[in-house]
Amino acid sequence: MRMMAGSRSACEPARYADAMTTLVIGGAGYIGSHVVRLLLEKGERVVVIDDLSTGFRERTTGAELVELDVTRPDAAEKLAFQMKASGANAVIHFAAHKQVGESVAKPEMYWHDNVAGLAHVLEACATAGVRDVVFSSSAAVYGMPDVDLVTEDLTPQPINPYGATKYVGEWMLADAERAHDLRTVALRYFNVAGAGWPELADTLVMNLVPIVLDALEQGKTPIVFGNDYNTPDGTCIRDYVHVLDLADAHIAALEYLRGEERPHRVFNVGTGTGSSVLEVIEAIGRALGQEITPTIGERRPGDPARLICSTDRIRETLGWSSTKTLDDIVRSAVEARRAAQ
Ligand SMILES: NC(=O)c1ccc[n+]([C@@H]2O[C@H](COP(=O)([O-])OP(=O)(O)OC[C@H]3O[C@@H](n4cnc5c(N)ncnc54)[C@H](O)[C@@H]3O)[C@@H](O)[C@H]2O)c1
Repeated sequence: MRMMAGSRSACEPARYADAMTTLVIGGAGYIGSHVVRLLLEKGERVVVIDDLSTGFRERTTGAELVELDVTRPDAAEKLAFQMKASGANAVIHFAAHKQVGESVAKPEMYWHDNVAGLAHVLEACATAGVRDVVFSSSAAVYGMPDVDLVTEDLTPQPINPYGATKYVGEWMLADAERAHDLRTVALRYFNVAGAGWPELADTLVMNLVPIVLDALEQGKTPIVFGNDYNTPDGTCIRDYVHVLDLADAHIAALEYLRGEERPHRVFNVGTGTGSSVLEVIEAIGRALGQEITPTIGERRPGDPARLICSTDRIRETLGWSSTKTLDDIVRSAVEARRAAQ
């Protein structure tokens, strides 16, 4: 049976105390809310911890919402309280700042909030005896690798504070595993886009698909930053993964942590194929039924020509692979924008 959406302060106990519960920190956000839906559909109980800084209360319907800023000095104590009260046996940690440009302008905020938030979560897990932790990492840990396919064995070399905080987060997980009875998985997301449900769409205009849709809506011509890269059409190639596929990877990670064998802790999440900027714009044109002719601008610093991940490890170890195409991604993003208008 599903619980009705509810909200309570960080000092009151969450409502469940008797069965399997996952604490989803940042579950009111874009990716987290998709995972919350999938967990609820599986019949699992979910407590969302979120300060609603970029998330939305209405996205947590069906779960219990506890409003808490996990960077607060007393957050570890409050989180441990919620974990014990709810009988949580797993945590998925999404809550973080995620904008590369902002991280370059405000590195202290990224180092403080992304690292302190995770430290509080891990401390609380150790105190409350929660064993399984899934962490949102990012392809940004890799920096600008000069390879055709990015494997997890490549030594990360982040080139901005955002990517650095994610890489440090992975170290923190490894240290916490050594110190406490914890089992962790870090998922390195590649380019996430689309919407599993129209009301859970990405509201931030930061990635290529929303940027192009936003420009078109405002009657502007989308800009392509550089068409002289060493790629077939000269524009940058990225690995776009549908947010619903990505959400499903978290379910696979939880199942993996609940099992016995655990040969790896870090996994790429992508499709293993790339699409160029022009191919994405063409797909958006197909979804909208219009031809889009972008303006070609200068290259931006820090953009590698191609970033495509190897999906061997996640397929072989978690049994997960993506199911959706670039057209599925773009169509779902277009439908979600239309529904929001
Ligand atoms: N969206 C992407 O393309 C992408 C790619 C790679 C990695 N990631 C990572 O995935 C995670 C989720 O990203 P998203 O796109 O869903 O972002 P989002 O901003 O939509 O979601 C983040 C959620 O965390 C909450 N939150 C933020 N700071 C908090 C705090 N201090 N205490 C409590 N709650 C807090 C927000 O209110 C929001 O609900 C982030 O860690 C991000 O770095 C995202």
